[in-house]
Amino acid sequence: MNGNLTFTMIKPDAMQRGFMSKILDKITDTGFKVKAMKLTKLSKEQAQQFYGVHKERPFFNDLVEYMSSGPIVAAVLEKNNAVEDFRKLIGATDPTKADEGTIRKMYAESIQYNAVHGSDSDENAMIEGNFFFSARERF
Ligand code: CMP
Repeated sequence: MNGNLTFTMIKPDAMQRGFMSKILDKITDTGFKVKAMKLTKLSKEQAQQFYGVHKERPFFNDLVEYMSSGPIVAAVLEKNNAVEDFRKLIGATDPTKADEGTIRKMYAESIQYNAVHGSDSDENAMIEGNFFFSARERF
């Protein structure tokens, strides 16, 4: 059975360019409920840990610099079939390949500066949500 929670970040590029409210509107207009949300900023160590799965990739150091370069919004979202539906809403990692109307098509600059993150599995949604939200803030 598919889970009903996913995790997202609005990344530093989208925050810097003033797209936070537009992106949040699109998420909630599509039927996602916000279960937990915070405006925060990652340290380099936190960015390295969050994206640890990519540490062997050539883009890892740039990714860590970028993700710790400014404020982000982190959120846990609820909807039926959340992980898959959210990935449809944000579109392909590379915005030039993203479908019309997706968040990345509308707001991302490049494959690296791609405006939003979305979990790729139910398991990672829980891991990523727990990375940002303590038991007191539990969703
Ligand atoms: P995200 O979905 O958050 O997961 C990993 C991130 O690494 C991705 O979004 C991009 O920000 C970045 N990324 C993925 N592929 C590349 C690439 N080929 N070059 C640069 N950055 C990338």
